[in-house]
Amino acid sequence: MSLPSMSLALVRNPANPQRSRDEAYGARRSEILGADALAQAERELSTWQGYAPTPLHALPALARELGVQSLHYKDEGGRFGLGSFKALGGAYAVARLLCRELGARLGRTLDTQDLRQPDMRALCAGITVTCATDGNHGRSVAWGAQLFGCACVIYVHATVSQGRAEAIAAYGAQVVRTPGNYDDAVRRAAADARAQGRFVISDTSYPGYMDVPRDVMQGYQLMVQEAAAQMGQRPTHIFVQAGVGGLAAAVCGYFWERDGAARPQFIVVEPERAACLLESARAGELRAVEGELDTLMAGLACGEVSLLAWEILEKGADAFCAIADSAAVDCMRLLAHPLGDDRAIVAGESAVAGVAAAIAALQSPAARAQLGLGEDSRILFFGSEAATDPALYAQLVGESAAVVAARAQAV
Ligand SMILES: Cc1ncc(COP(=O)(O)O)c(C=O)c1O
Repeated sequence: MSLPSMSLALVRNPANPQRSRDEAYGARRSEILGADALAQAERELSTWQGYAPTPLHALPALARELGVQSLHYKDEGGRFGLGSFKALGGAYAVARLLCRELGARLGRTLDTQDLRQPDMRALCAGITVTCATDGNHGRSVAWGAQLFGCACVIYVHATVSQGRAEAIAAYGAQVVRTPGNYDDAVRRAAADARAQGRFVISDTSYPGYMDVPRDVMQGYQLMVQEAAAQMGQRPTHIFVQAGVGGLAAAVCGYFWERDGAARPQFIVVEPERAACLLESARAGELRAVEGELDTLMAGLACGEVSLLAWEILEKGADAFCAIADSAAVDCMRLLAHPLGDDRAIVAGESAVAGVAAAIAALQSPAARAQLGLGEDSRILFFGSEAATDPALYAQLVGESAAVVAARAQAV
């Protein structure tokens, strides 16, 4: 397949992150995503059945075509059998919530191993967790609830596909469909939780609600740690997609923590119709994007930035950009039918936004110059989902995920 031409809207971060670690990042941010929290997430998550690092694929033919040293794609499609990186966040946050809540009732410190004991499972059964989702986060929360035996109610907004809703229900959760967009569903889940005594496991933070979304981001950092170890040499650039910004903040924070000002260039990517981080960066303060947030990239269809994520990205990210749905679809097809000997990859709509933005940037001399991209660049992507909506994937790519996966295995 030849390389489709793509474009992007790009803004260098006016908050100027080219400063020392303490100025741009600092101790306050370290408290959100510090090394201790990651060590704890690793200790817990690595004992869960089915845990294994996901693969990091090199794409040398695409790198040659684009004139850079290397491209690597961290393929989260196999994560805990849930199809996306979100398996690390929501389910981990459910476990942490249960440990906190039951630990407080019992007057001792609990970890997820304790939750597996029969007497604990009986206590878990009396707790209900809940959240709003555009698909993947809700699937992770529902899976976590099933894993530890608590009840679960998940809210999906009007445009979440039936396939995604059914995938959540398959883990035993009650699924409630609500009118409006994702942010409306977040508010409804929170209001019902207050009325019914449920515990909200949200991947987005807002004033007075920080602990759970922090746990979610700490779970995501395990993926970043795996990628850094697998890659060996540090990337020079990372293009990472954002919905509420939790994933991007987890990736950005990881490298700030360890590399300070020598960290990779960090570019946040959003769909052009749901670019709340880009708009916030332009405005120099938090801005919401309203309306239907109509994009195929369902996982990125968020109009409001998570406060904790903004804490990290406001000064920590180097640039913000937005891409069209058509670029994402072109990229899904490109990864399914790769150049040269590159391996075929099953990549969902939200997974490819980073790749699409990098291709678009490398095709534009101005963007190349703005981001310092060139023949020495080593670019890392987080392929955050596989075909989490298999019917939509087949419709967009023109063949099923199973056929593409079989081609990948044949390489
Ligand atoms: C596949 C996928 N990628 C990326 C994201 C973005 O993550 P965040 O909302 O933390 O920015 C999501 C969110 O649901 C997602 O499902």
